[in-house]
Amino acid sequence: MTDLPLNPCILAIESSCDETSAAVYLPARQQLFQEIYSQVALHADYGGVVPELASRSHLEKLYGVVESVLSQSSLTLQDVDAVAYTRGPGLVGPLLIGASYADALSLALDVPLLPVHHLEAHITIPMFEFSDLCFPFLALLVSGGHTELILAKDLGHYELLGSTMDDAAGEAFDKCGKVMGLEYPAGPKLAQLADAFVPGEYPDLPTPLKGNPTLDFSFSGLKTAFARSWDLHYASYSSNAFAYAIQHAIVHHLTSRVKKVWSSYPEMPLVVAGGVAANQCLRTSLSDTAKSVQRQVFFPDLCYCTDNAGMIAHNAYLHWDRFGVWGSRAQRVRPRWPIETLLSRDE
Ligand code: KG4
Ligand code: ZN
Repeated sequence: MTDLPLNPCILAIESSCDETSAAVYLPARQQLFQEIYSQVALHADYGGVVPELASRSHLEKLYGVVESVLSQSSLTLQDVDAVAYTRGPGLVGPLLIGASYADALSLALDVPLLPVHHLEAHITIPMFEFSDLCFPFLALLVSGGHTELILAKDLGHYELLGSTMDDAAGEAFDKCGKVMGLEYPAGPKLAQLADAFVPGEYPDLPTPLKGNPTLDFSFSGLKTAFARSWDLHYASYSSNAFAYAIQHAIVHHLTSRVKKVWSSYPEMPLVVAGGVAANQCLRTSLSDTAKSVQRQVFFPDLCYCTDNAGMIAHNAYLHWDRFGVWGSRAQRVRPRWPIETLLSRDE
């Protein structure tokens, strides 16, 4: 039952935060279908994700999202050879909804259940899109909850080279956008304002961790300086100038860490993953840097930047192919699951 079939069909569920997503992956045909239901509107009034509301919404939407992805791929549940799900990290309630759904479905279909590490899925999805990308590589993971520089040695084998000491990059975008009165999640809206800035004067912001020799990140001082500048100089600059200033500072900080890590790992390509990988200014800055030091940089397609089940289905297949089926049905979800401990599967 657990052997990898010749033409497997993997159905995957992602429910770690505020996107309810399902995907169907047919690796033999290089076909990946996905549906995403975003809960953004549900949480907008609260300025952030409310875990209890997120759980209830996943429960309500999951069935329909699975139905739509099956219909999009012209397949039925009978075609499914394994069910994958996000085991962690993420919010415990939302994870439990996805895990219980996937568990029940795999049991009913009598097919393997494949647990997936959400962050590993973020950084391996570019392997689906770019056939020349293989291990080892460096990964910059930039999302609403994470900002990490990772050495991806091989599938399942990761070393954390640097991480944020306080806020994540996406959180910095969101919090500064909130200061400007933009609705949650403010990151993409702030980026839009910044990209429309006509070159000119803009507020001065500090450089985080100046002179710090590590590969760590820090965004909370920047956010405080931004809020202060907004209060003091509100009348002196346009919203576009404020948005440009903070986007420029965040992107500059991320790029400076990438330059540093490339000097220690000269041959390695870089994968940029997570919601903030959708940021055009970051893409341009890292592409320019890559060109200047003759390195390769891979960005996922925009549909695989924010949370999606396509990356879960793809990562589940990589593990099934390499390591077979592991884990038991009684396994807990893992809201906190350091990527370095990914293969310690007994917990
Ligand atoms: O990976 P993701 O969907 O969810 C997790 O946090 O796991 O990332 C969402 C984050 C939010 O903070 C959002 O504001 C940010 O990614 N984001 C952006 C852009 N698109 C999404 N930040 C800046 N520019 C963007 N274009
Ligand atoms: Zn994510």
